Amino acid sequence: MKQLLSLLLATTVTLGASAQTTNGKGLKDLYKNYFTMGVAVSPRALKTDEAGLILQHFSSMTPENAMKMGPIHPKENEYNFRDADSIVAFAQRNQLKLRGHTLCWHSQTPSWIFKDDAGNTVSKAVLLQRLKDHIFTVVNRYKGSVYAWDVVNEAISDKPDEYLRPSPWLQIIGEEYIAKAFQWAHEADPKAVLFYNDYNEISPEKRAKMVRLVKGLKSAGVPIHAVGLQGHWAVNEPSREQLESTLRDFAATGLKMQITELDISVYPKEHDARPARPEDKDTAFSAIREQQQRDVYKMSFELFRKYRKQLTGVTFWNISDRTSWLDNFPVRNRKDYPLLFDKNLQPKKAYFDIVQF
Ligand code: GLA
Repeated sequence: MKQLLSLLLATTVTLGASAQTTNGKGLKDLYKNYFTMGVAVSPRALKTDEAGLILQHFSSMTPENAMKMGPIHPKENEYNFRDADSIVAFAQRNQLKLRGHTLCWHSQTPSWIFKDDAGNTVSKAVLLQRLKDHIFTVVNRYKGSVYAWDVVNEAISDKPDEYLRPSPWLQIIGEEYIAKAFQWAHEADPKAVLFYNDYNEISPEKRAKMVRLVKGLKSAGVPIHAVGLQGHWAVNEPSREQLESTLRDFAATGLKMQITELDISVYPKEHDARPARPEDKDTAFSAIREQQQRDVYKMSFELFRKYRKQLTGVTFWNISDRTSWLDNFPVRNRKDYPLLFDKNLQPKKAYFDIVQF
């Protein structure tokens, strides 16, 4: 009898849970008075059952890789628009907004871009022209389909005594590559909302450099409209104080902000890739890990709601715990569970924590 009762109870709870998410309301509806809810996607995911989950919960997408310079512009005179086009077509069919990611970054760049035919480093003039051509071609193609662009991604250095990352962009062109990228993106699509996007925004040192950069651009009249806080977080960070001061500092710049790449790893934060250690074998989504993750999700969304005037969107970096880039970073083949939906696409407890307010 007792067993039957608890079985009944469990069934009701499960039904209650799925009813709340299947009666037509998803994250995007529950948050419609706050900010846009988005998700990073691959063209492949849009052909699986994850597509249904996207349509139920999200009203915006970001191509995870398809619009990055390497995949979309593999050779000087060759663009590969296939993957990006298929994501754009899905967005248009289903009336989803689209964030473009990203026009200028030091990583996932095509090998040709910094070199001439003889393999020598190109001049400043050549690289500026290549950047300009790239930005005009890509932004122009998706004009009207992409409402916002991460124009420059991760230009700031993580080293305490260094301001900008010494990427080939900086080394060959100098600091002005950043302003130029914004200027060209704006010329190509004057309606697009232009973002500077970066990670570890919760670190006071890194954040000070981000604020310095975006304020400097703004006061120089560069067309920058918003700042993207990637939000690759974990069970042990950010603290409430850390996140509150982060949102406060960026709000004070007068720019709009979005959380552009949210996930909350169930492992303590590590910033650099490393080989596996014996203790990495324990990859269970244990009750402790689940609770720690719920706490960070709940606290984060409390603060996101508080800053809704400046915060215009939250985008999750991947759809469900089925696959995430964190399964291979910082440790290869260590399963992570950083999202709100489990491997079977069912909402996790953290989902209910953030929608009950
Ligand atoms: C950075 C980039 C993203 C993505 C993640 C890892 O945050 O902005 O495009 O590559 O790293 O998936």
